Amino acid sequence: MDFEAPSPADLLARYGEVRGTTARLCEPLSAEDMLVQSMPQASPTKWHLAHTTWFFEAFVLAELPGHRPFHESFGYLFNSYYNALGDRLSRPKRGLLSRPSLAQVMRYREHVDGAMRQLLASRASSNLRRLTLIGLHHEQQHQELILTDIKHALGGNPLKPSYRDRPAALAGVAPPLRWMEHPGGLIDIGHAGAGFAYDNETPRHRVFLRPFRLASRLATCGDYMAFLDDGGYSRPELWLSDGWDACQREGWQAPLYWEKTEGRWWQYTLAGPRRVREDELVIHVSFYEADAFARWSGARLPTEAEWEAVAADVPVAGSFLDADRLHPAPAEENGGGTAQLFGEAWQWTASPYVAYPGYRTPEGALGEYNGKFMCNQLVLRGGSCLTPRSHFRRSYRNFFPPDARWQFSGVRLARDL
Ligand SMILES: [Fe+2]
Repeated sequence: MDFEAPSPADLLARYGEVRGTTARLCEPLSAEDMLVQSMPQASPTKWHLAHTTWFFEAFVLAELPGHRPFHESFGYLFNSYYNALGDRLSRPKRGLLSRPSLAQVMRYREHVDGAMRQLLASRASSNLRRLTLIGLHHEQQHQELILTDIKHALGGNPLKPSYRDRPAALAGVAPPLRWMEHPGGLIDIGHAGAGFAYDNETPRHRVFLRPFRLASRLATCGDYMAFLDDGGYSRPELWLSDGWDACQREGWQAPLYWEKTEGRWWQYTLAGPRRVREDELVIHVSFYEADAFARWSGARLPTEAEWEAVAADVPVAGSFLDADRLHPAPAEENGGGTAQLFGEAWQWTASPYVAYPGYRTPEGALGEYNGKFMCNQLVLRGGSCLTPRSHFRRSYRNFFPPDARWQFSGVRLARDL
């Protein structure tokens, strides 16, 4: 934990803000909605509510002398993957948790909130404050998952109910894609400074880049429809072998949530089904689809170092969760720079999620947070319209398996120069 501990007052304010945001995200949901687990990779909202609470109990409150858990079984039910903290319910079974009731889970949250507030208002050591900050970033990570998981649950419901009726405005016309040149060379990537970062963003280190070009904006639905219309999903030569296998096995014919009705593409959004507009960003594609689309485009996906080299000089702007759109904004002219680097949609990179040179897994159970997943996943950069702004930084490395489609994942193209 190399980052600075926030002051108790700042942390207390931030604690209230983050926990309050989670509660607000649940407001449109019924107790029935909150129990649905639509696939093994997605979790019920109720489980997210309890798991993020357990995290504070297990990693912060458990450090206090005389601590007694709120409930003896909750460690088993709501531990996600920390082997050092004991056995646990397997992930595909989270949807079985009709008990404890939602009311009990909410009482659990209140109980832990009370204990955390008391701790932060009195005697929290800098170590406990740092652990609390990790817990808050952890909860913000789960805020995005609450939304992507409920989108998968409601989008799979035959009635296609909306999470929220208010659709995000989609005015705007996507500008033509331009290629922004970067000279390459020796650059430094990774987290720097005393602010918060996960261990996997460190150590900062030097990489060599060949000159490259990066697309000025993310790929739009119009760009992607051209790939579809050109038989993109039926041409194995465009796909990686594993990707083609996944495409065949899963019967992919378009991005997740797309459906053709009477010759027109519709997509399910958090505001319900809506016609696909050519100018909006394509999202819900897997790494395999992003890679095939890039190959068809005569391009490739950027590496995470290329992305970070460009992002280093661009102010962080764009629609994050705070903008409350719950859907990416269309691309707009931005005076000739590189647009949409941040917010809107996570950008698949060509980089495998592996340790940075010199990385050491932190000691203790928290060492399991990131390090043990550094295999068989790809890095995504930039954040999305569901990512809380205060959770994001340029060095952020998100990671998912190459066939994952339910996150708000889009495509930025790159080319060699
Ligand atoms: Fe978690």
